[in-house]
Amino acid sequence: MKIFLDTADLAEIRRAAEANLIDGVTTNPSLVSKVAGERDPKEIYKEICEVVDGPVSAEVVGLDRETMVSEGRKLAALHDNIVVKVPLTEDGLKACRALVAEGIRTNVTLCFSVSQALLAAKAGGTFVSPFVGRIDDISGEGMQLVHQIRQVYDNYGYDTEILAASLRHPMHVVESMLIGADCATMPPKVLWQLAQHPLTDKGLDAFLEDWKKLGTTL
Ligand code: E4P
Repeated sequence: MKIFLDTADLAEIRRAAEANLIDGVTTNPSLVSKVAGERDPKEIYKEICEVVDGPVSAEVVGLDRETMVSEGRKLAALHDNIVVKVPLTEDGLKACRALVAEGIRTNVTLCFSVSQALLAAKAGGTFVSPFVGRIDDISGEGMQLVHQIRQVYDNYGYDTEILAASLRHPMHVVESMLIGADCATMPPKVLWQLAQHPLTDKGLDAFLEDWKKLGTTL
């Protein structure tokens, strides 16, 4: 499963890229607004693309098809790694189709139902992003949606990649893998939680205590 980092924070992206842990990055307007300050968001997207050699999702902010297509073209022109994120609305699906016809990769975002995911695949989306955590937030079963999309895409041979999104804790990531999601995007905190285990810490402490008894270094 591909791991994407869900952030526009370059320091966090560099930190994860150092050990080659991430295959790409996803952003959204809220994440970009957190880090941009006075900077042009387009410069931030370009810098992320220089750090990570993989898909970098950058989202349109227009609401109608024409504006989304025009913004999508501009975003795609920034760097080959850019994937244009469009919302799962009627105009978003039409913009997706138009961008895909021009050879521009898309990520159909804000997906909350299996019927929406079907339309994202029909529109030729490169990725579809089911928002697991936000469904859990309203007492739904977010992972159930990922499971259903996997089943439908496999039933009919759609090659749109399932990008499990809005993941809030390590079990979301584990369940995404078990279901067979193609990719999972997660905040830096969740990525580093994947590495943690109390028995690793305990074992390391014991090894180092024993080594100290030798009174030597390597
Ligand atoms: C995905 O592309 C989104 O940026 C993200 O996963 C949303 O997560 P949130 O629901 O935690 O904001």
